[in-house]
Amino acid sequence: MQTHAVIFDAYGTLFDVTSVQQQTEETFPGHGDAITELWRRKQLEYTWLRALMNRYKPFSQVTRDALVYAAKSRGLTPEAQQIQTLMAAYLTLHTFPEVTSVLAQLSNKRRAILTNGDLPLIEPAVRAAGLENALDAVLSVDSIQLYKPSPQAYALVTSQLKVRAEHVLFVSSNPFDVVGATNFGFRVAWVKRAGGQMDELDTAPAHTVETLTELLPLVA
Ligand code: LAC
Repeated sequence: MQTHAVIFDAYGTLFDVTSVQQQTEETFPGHGDAITELWRRKQLEYTWLRALMNRYKPFSQVTRDALVYAAKSRGLTPEAQQIQTLMAAYLTLHTFPEVTSVLAQLSNKRRAILTNGDLPLIEPAVRAAGLENALDAVLSVDSIQLYKPSPQAYALVTSQLKVRAEHVLFVSSNPFDVVGATNFGFRVAWVKRAGGQMDELDTAPAHTVETLTELLPLVA
């Protein structure tokens, strides 16, 4: 089956969420690693909990709440300014080293992001990384107030880009997202970044790659 569109998850796949670690350490000395790790874990957990409760809140606010939780878990009382500094760091997350080159080499396909991030969080990061012209669209679940892995979130790709599911290669490093996108009917490549482990959710990705560079032969 021909691939017409390559759709990327944002955080953890194109953008390295651990690149805030240095800023976290400077803001909360001695707690950088622990807070960075828990911040991400709680951020994802809160999206799923809120989805179950029908209590949607945009990802930027969920991210802020998760940061407060992570800081408090270390016995800290975070000040507004510290939270602000780290939330600002989320707007300039580093991309993984191969991202720019791989997106350029995929220019004969439609290229888009589908993210749980709301546009005020993701668009500045896309701009800061210089990726605006390398993407045909940045799709956010915020428009439907649901989160991946809801099938309705993945349906934004087919409805907004007017592409059929079988013509999509969906790319994510996040196991929950790999499972959700496969469940929706996309062919999925799992980017097994360092330490990645697939979830036990009765689903295996069509492809497993170490970096985005290995996607190129999959869509040639
Ligand atoms: C994203 C996060 C959840 O959707 O990785 O970009």
